[in-house]
Amino acid sequence: MYAQMVKATGKGVKTREQMDENERHFQDRIDNDIKIEAKDWMPEGYRKTLKRQISQHAHSEIVGQLPEGNWITRAPTLERKTILLAKVQDEAGHGLYLYCAAETLGISRDEMTEQLLSGKAKYSSIFNYPTLTWADMGAIGWLVDGAAIMNQVPLQYCSYGPYARAMVRICKEESFHQRQGFDIMNVLAKGSEAQKAMAQDALNRWWWPALMMFGPSDADSVHSAQSFAWNIKQNSNDELRQKFVDQTVPQAEFLGLNVPDSDLKWNDKKNGYDFGAINWDEFFAVIAGDGPCNKERLGARQKAWNDGAWFREALIVNAEKRAACKQAAE
Ligand code: 3HC
Repeated sequence: MYAQMVKATGKGVKTREQMDENERHFQDRIDNDIKIEAKDWMPEGYRKTLKRQISQHAHSEIVGQLPEGNWITRAPTLERKTILLAKVQDEAGHGLYLYCAAETLGISRDEMTEQLLSGKAKYSSIFNYPTLTWADMGAIGWLVDGAAIMNQVPLQYCSYGPYARAMVRICKEESFHQRQGFDIMNVLAKGSEAQKAMAQDALNRWWWPALMMFGPSDADSVHSAQSFAWNIKQNSNDELRQKFVDQTVPQAEFLGLNVPDSDLKWNDKKNGYDFGAINWDEFFAVIAGDGPCNKERLGARQKAWNDGAWFREALIVNAEKRAACKQAAE
């Protein structure tokens, strides 16, 4: 099914006739919804795509702790502090499951870290924006985790078993994150004039970067056609972005907040909202390293890596000593 669809869209995806025997067998498994496991034969391109996507996803979870971690000491109540702490810890856990899923493809954690720190591997554009007020914790949970869920629910059904299974738990936890963010926004929006203004300001700053999270428009998406063919992607970047807008605008209305888009308008014909043009120059600048916080975020990860060097060395020395003791006892 997918191979036929891709044949029509082109973009360098092999047709059935161009595939060799192994590739045809592999594509048949994909088309019959049979999961691919780590030890199964797979085309090198499939392995490479998954290493790229899963490691970038893992980096996003890890770097994504930084903007919110910034507010743990300043949360307004003990309850908010414990919830935020738990959420940020969840993101660390997501990063670890995803690094493990990527490792099954034959890439080490050290290699992935090196790719992140050298700028070779990307992480989500959204985490290069600053968190200026407490309302940003609400906007991130509501919009950023909301967008993440929209994109990640289909990944539970993707063709690569270890990735699909990691996504099941991640999606459950993201739902809790989204709700705690909406709750923060709800309390602020129903609070004093100053609190409502803070919530509106956060929505103004996070709305457009949240739409950019879904990636470039379909016309500019380099990997989509092949990822559809391999059932890594099931929805296009624009489809998911549209679903997110349609789901989120009524929530903003419920909060009594205005989505910062003068072109936003319900369209009966498509049964969804029309929305304004995204600033793609900003998106491409951010993913090229020129966002407001790129240097700060990578600087923080570099420092964590350097600060942890003594601990990694200690683990290796300890493992060597234990192995030597075991050998001596045999
Ligand atoms: N930020 C940074 N880079 C992005 C991006 C974004 N928002 N959207 C796309 N890109 C990059 C791609 O990685 C690719 O670059 P590369 O070739 O150097 O890897 C390039 O832009 C072209 O985009 P494509 O549409 O061709 O790329 P994909 O087919 O990979 O689609 C994607 C992009 C939809 C993000 C897809 O990779 C995906 O679904 N990834 C898994 C989910 C993910 O990583 N989410 C990140 C957020 S996680 C999160 O938010 C944590 C949560 O706790 C809040």
